[in-house]
Amino acid sequence: MASEPPPSLRTGSWFRSVVFYEIPVRSFFDSNGDGIGDLPGVTAKLDYLGRLGVGAIWLLPFYVSPWRDEGYDISDHYAIHPKLGTVDDFDRLVEEAHRRGIRVLGDYVANHVSTDHPWFQEARRDRSSPYRAWFLWSDTGTEFSRVRVIFRDEETSNWSWDEVAGQYYFHRFFASQADLNYDAPAVRAEMIRYARFWLGRGLDGFRCDAVPYLFKREGTRSQSLPEVHQFFREVRAMMDREFPGTVLVAEANQSVPETIPYFGEGREFQMVMHFPLMPNLFLALGEEDPRRIVHVLRATLPAPGGTSWAYFLRNHDEVTGEHLSEDEREMMLWLYGRDPRAVLNHGLRRRLAPMLDGDDDRVEMMTALLLGLPGAPYLYYGDEIGMGDRLDLPDRDGVRTPMQWSEGPTAGFSTASPDRLVRPIVSDPRFAPSVRSVAGEEGRDGSLLERVRALLSVRNERAETFSSPLYDALELPGSPVFGFVRPGPAEHILCLYNLSRSEVEVQARLPAWSAPHPTELLGHERRLTVTEGALRGRLPPYGFAWVGFPRVPDPPPP
Ligand code: BGC
Repeated sequence: MASEPPPSLRTGSWFRSVVFYEIPVRSFFDSNGDGIGDLPGVTAKLDYLGRLGVGAIWLLPFYVSPWRDEGYDISDHYAIHPKLGTVDDFDRLVEEAHRRGIRVLGDYVANHVSTDHPWFQEARRDRSSPYRAWFLWSDTGTEFSRVRVIFRDEETSNWSWDEVAGQYYFHRFFASQADLNYDAPAVRAEMIRYARFWLGRGLDGFRCDAVPYLFKREGTRSQSLPEVHQFFREVRAMMDREFPGTVLVAEANQSVPETIPYFGEGREFQMVMHFPLMPNLFLALGEEDPRRIVHVLRATLPAPGGTSWAYFLRNHDEVTGEHLSEDEREMMLWLYGRDPRAVLNHGLRRRLAPMLDGDDDRVEMMTALLLGLPGAPYLYYGDEIGMGDRLDLPDRDGVRTPMQWSEGPTAGFSTASPDRLVRPIVSDPRFAPSVRSVAGEEGRDGSLLERVRALLSVRNERAETFSSPLYDALELPGSPVFGFVRPGPAEHILCLYNLSRSEVEVQARLPAWSAPHPTELLGHERRLTVTEGALRGRLPPYGFAWVGFPRVPDPPPP
């Protein structure tokens, strides 16, 4: 059994002050030469993550699974996929991470199970089995007709015919993932048991998959129903009682009004992934106009007391355009989806660096933006070295290729022969391991990895300010510069980001607190000056600046 984390790892709002890092275990590092990344592989790379400044890792599903959807199709919730390691390997990873001050989140996949799961297998074979009630069946496949199909490039209906059962079964995602029936009390109890099991082995929390869809009600879109909120309040209450300091993170890819309630006034998720913001960050950059970022943040900040938004640029899925208007979606595809193979479902299956034309300045600036916002930043593995993607692979596999540790045919990911790897290595010469790898970038002045590390280092040093929910947008009318201030106890930090390809003059009136002696913390501009309550300077194309202003001491009492 994994040891208890040191108490300091789970105190206060730790989740607001650390940088998270997402890891698809199969693609990260192969420790035993079978071509597949594994849990000991992650353990082996903890020192790298520590050097990068990561404070928490999020592991994609590592459970037993036929792997038709990257492990999001679980066939045993209580065991580790044999290719990924053993329970001892899991315990060791958690223990070693904790020893380095790194927390570990797992992925909690509650909405569905693999159709290979013994629960579904028994349910389909035997109508009198108690498991029959764990799934949703139909003779016609016409119920819940208002529920949208999410993987619309692959599936045409949320119902699939099952020969064995002689009925249709419901699935929100792939047909290989049967939805559980949350109206069955045994399902709810089992899913709480599943959470308790892994928290008991030392996980510091969960990123919860596909949260809005658990309950279905005829005549509705069956999204974000009150019952969903109720269920997660129960999970959270169990965690607070039995595993204090652990966190729940919601993946709720919805509109702003539907996303905010997942904070549940502090009684549901401590963190909610900021899906409404993510595509808008890319649109704003492409349009060289920050206004849409300002608008989304105005509608969504601050996160309610004690909770936090979770920001991300890229993850293991596509850049979703589901909640954009038709015009906005077209704009996004025009800006970033010129290669038609990049378009998937409602979005784009691309990694960060290729979206930004392999331009390190833009990647650094967008990463600085992510790290500056009030909330927790989530990095996607490999984005710190500017890894590319493979549009020749199916579905979202192209953004899940092996981590590039060094040069060579397997990128230092594995000792297996290249044709035995879980996925082929990136071959685009702009992003291949010969030009993008940890070994090639670590310690090299000016490399993307070192630039990203410097960002994390400043953010970690000033965690007190960056983790505060305080944020004041700066008025910069007509400017392509996005700017805001993060007020802190000892220092206020001004963050400026030039979203345009041109050098720009910045002029901003500063709030009354501004001390006249700013310190440039990081960025591309060293000539910012403050006079008479205004800041002046120039930012290069896609440049950014983080500037610290010591707090002016309060005047002595009269
Ligand atoms: C995960 C996807 C997965 C889907 C179904 C999502 O939201 O992030 O990768 O395919 O849930 O489990």
